[in-house]
Amino acid sequence: MANLNSSFLLFLSLNLFHIFHTAIARGGERDSGFVDKTYAASGRHLFEENHFQKLNTLAHGYMTNSDLEKAIKAFHGRCGHLSRIYSIGKSVLGVPLWVMEISNNPGKEEAKPAFKFIGNVHGDEPVGRELLLLLANWLCDNYMKNPLATLIVDKVHLHILPSMNPDGFSLRRRGNAKGIDLNRDFPDQFFPMNDDFNKRQPETKAIMNWLKEMRFTASASLHGGALVANYPWDGTEDKSKSYYACPDDEAFRYMAKLYSHSHHNMSRSKEFEEGITNGAHWYPIYGGMQDWNYIYGGCFELTLEISDNKWPPANELRMIWQFNKMSMLDLVASLVKSGVHGRIFSSDCGEPLPASIAIKGINYTIKASERLADYHRLLVPGQQYEVMATMPGYKTRTTTIVMGDEPMTVDFILEPDFSLSSSFLPNHCSNRSSLKIFKLISKPHLQVSLTLVLILAFLCFLMKRKAIVNHFKVRKSVGQRRVSAV
Ligand SMILES: *[C@@H]1O[C@H](CO)[C@@H](O)[C@H](O)[C@H]1NC(C)=O
Ligand SMILES: *[C@@H]1O[C@H](CO)[C@@H](O)[C@H](O)[C@H]1NC(C)=O
Ligand SMILES: *[C@@H]1O[C@H](CO)[C@@H](O)[C@H](O)[C@H]1NC(C)=O
Ligand SMILES: [Zn+2]
Repeated sequence: MANLNSSFLLFLSLNLFHIFHTAIARGGERDSGFVDKTYAASGRHLFEENHFQKLNTLAHGYMTNSDLEKAIKAFHGRCGHLSRIYSIGKSVLGVPLWVMEISNNPGKEEAKPAFKFIGNVHGDEPVGRELLLLLANWLCDNYMKNPLATLIVDKVHLHILPSMNPDGFSLRRRGNAKGIDLNRDFPDQFFPMNDDFNKRQPETKAIMNWLKEMRFTASASLHGGALVANYPWDGTEDKSKSYYACPDDEAFRYMAKLYSHSHHNMSRSKEFEEGITNGAHWYPIYGGMQDWNYIYGGCFELTLEISDNKWPPANELRMIWQFNKMSMLDLVASLVKSGVHGRIFSSDCGEPLPASIAIKGINYTIKASERLADYHRLLVPGQQYEVMATMPGYKTRTTTIVMGDEPMTVDFILEPDFSLSSSFLPNHCSNRSSLKIFKLISKPHLQVSLTLVLILAFLCFLMKRKAIVNHFKVRKSVGQRRVSAV
């Protein structure tokens, strides 16, 4: 009898609830089975044992690992108001992998895009680590003086890892202390390799864990041995050396060209048209960091080959920095000077919804951030796109935008979907309130429960009315686009 009563009450409250809950509602020497046939020929990955002595001499003028750590700390000491430093893990030999974050609100979660630069992935390609310290210091010195520096510091969270492979650097070799090419140590989309997390190198693990914690809209890793901006895919399904386009080929070509054309002479390359290349078209690699970032990290990553000479004399570093400076700045700034950005909210309780954003015709989805529900999607100017926001338990919303030369802001307000099939799906607002009701029902005081259910139902009713009124207020802005001034 008591069971019957509580079932009835459950039935009643579920129904009441349904009626009202709208209201509350990227050559390795590594033998992985994938040998780069073009490896030796490419120049990019030339590694000769007898280079060691030469490289030791060449290292003169470059920062040692401890110099680098000091330079990072000195930067922070000087520019603490717009920076934070943290380590994402340690190399095999225990060297901390220091990151400098540059922003006017370092360490704070904000509805802004984030960019990361990773240098020295290959131990014998040290130009990047030097340039990245120059970049950080330039931003600090030019904040509030140079518009591009100010824009980057104010509107982007820039994370800089000058050396991903400090052990390889001190050993003057490509791989890490274990001789593993870190740019072949990531899980691969086509072939089962590096799938065992425990066998992965600590430097690789550090990057993978970093991407679990932090959302990056785009990134670039810095290499040497060529002069070209390389974009995904890096590998092909049939291991052939051929152009293999990823879903965002156009956006990647746009980013890569932005880099090559802002560079001193990268775009005038004789080897690569406009100074850019599809990775697999140049030569396919597997287990690389670049493709992994795009597939698993939601991050658009380029692999930048910034000097023909892997280890140029240190007195050329300033010149190489000047050649790459505008490219680096323009690439980071492109996150806020182009693309579509916005936040997603629920119409019922106004809470931020970590929904997914997809573009019709592009098989790639990005997720809005968990807490602030902001999203940042790179797109190519001069084209029309259908932007779609989806969240389980909510009705999908689509809006058409025409990208001009300016970035766009499109906020979405999603309505809960109460159609039968999805009515039991957890929904951000209703979840909590339904739990409350279930808890009440499980208690013995049925009378009290019933009263509370009715009071809740009445409150729901009042809130729903208010939500409807609010809904119509905000609705006008739903799907509308405003061009933000940056
Ligand atoms: C770019 O300029 C550098 C320095 O002037 C030169 O060594 C290099 O060969 C040039 N590369 C191209 C592709 O023009
Ligand atoms: C979309 O990409 C996924 C892999 O991310 C693939 O499994 C799927 O077949 C693709 N869909 C289409 C329609 O190309
Ligand atoms: C819904 O409630 C369950 C149970 O407490 C919880 O684990 C889940 O994270 C909640 N979902 C949302 C979207 O709040
Ligand atoms: Zn490299």
